Amino acid sequence: MRAITVIPRQAGSARLDEVPEPAEAAGSVLVDGLALGICGTDAEIVRGEYAWAPPGEERLVLGHESLGRVLEAPEGSGFAAGDLVVGIVRRPDAVPCGPCAAGEWDFCANGEYTERGIKELHGYGSERWRVEPDFAVRLDPGFEDVGVLLEPTSVVAKAWEQIERIGARSTFAPRRVLVTGAGPIGLLAALLAVERGYEVHVLDQVTDGPKPELVRQLGGTYHAGDASAAGQVDIVVEATGAGPVVAQALRGTTRNGIVCLTGVSSGGRPLDFDVGGFNRDLVLENDVVFGTVNANRRHYEAAAEALEAADREWLRGLITRRVPLDRWQEALERRPGDVKVVVEL
Ligand code: BGC
Repeated sequence: MRAITVIPRQAGSARLDEVPEPAEAAGSVLVDGLALGICGTDAEIVRGEYAWAPPGEERLVLGHESLGRVLEAPEGSGFAAGDLVVGIVRRPDAVPCGPCAAGEWDFCANGEYTERGIKELHGYGSERWRVEPDFAVRLDPGFEDVGVLLEPTSVVAKAWEQIERIGARSTFAPRRVLVTGAGPIGLLAALLAVERGYEVHVLDQVTDGPKPELVRQLGGTYHAGDASAAGQVDIVVEATGAGPVVAQALRGTTRNGIVCLTGVSSGGRPLDFDVGGFNRDLVLENDVVFGTVNANRRHYEAAAEALEAADREWLRGLITRRVPLDRWQEALERRPGDVKVVVEL
């Protein structure tokens, strides 16, 4: 079968490969891959900046934003042929650490977790893949067109869960939310904010293309280049990872505000930042800044509910380009108007 593979940490090594059928050890549920979402992490991996191959292997099958249809599943697994499924990305470490033992592998404490398509486990970027029943999530059969958005939605479902848990430290009645970055993570974070009833503002650089309209369709306010018109907000979800945007986000909340960082910055670009002033504001205003990564099963389930509650047409609008597997390289190109680009398997 065909799969997108890469030699981790070697730029230019990614290619469409012929590989053996998925090993049974990868899970008892055999899945026919339908779609694979491509994100910034995949681009980083292809540039040779991130990822680890499975022990003893040279190449890694890429891909962690999955969608497929079950071909075979054992009796009693909870899955049956024909089910629409998404595979969870992370697996707990072998020790396991406390959080992993509790099913909260997204909080793995020793860093020895593994991740499909990223860290030591083959990904979902192949025509067929296997998954363990405990790490598969079933979607409503009608979700064939947008189910590939489940993984990025799980990341923002976790972000919102964490924001709410932090908010519960006091009587917190947030009203206004700013999302920085109108890529898939930003727009999905905005969707979940709207579903929670917040007044939503989204900041991005572009003035045309689908992003401003997607925000308007959500009932949010789009800001191109400068969100000062949004005024002070209670919550910021930062989804660009860009230094100057992050720096602004850190100083932009009301008292008791929460800033949630979701973007993985490249680092190495120092900028002037008034640490003292930031510290002063944070302390005197009880502000919280926190980072969030990955998602556990609870977040995938919350994400499935969020997608079910969303307007289907709007979700379809997030997937701006679909490319066939033999032209998968095109999915990595950043074209004007791209939001989420998907490879059809
Ligand atoms: C994935 C997460 C993963 C993270 C770091 C992200 O792109 O969505 O599941 O934990 O990369 O590897």
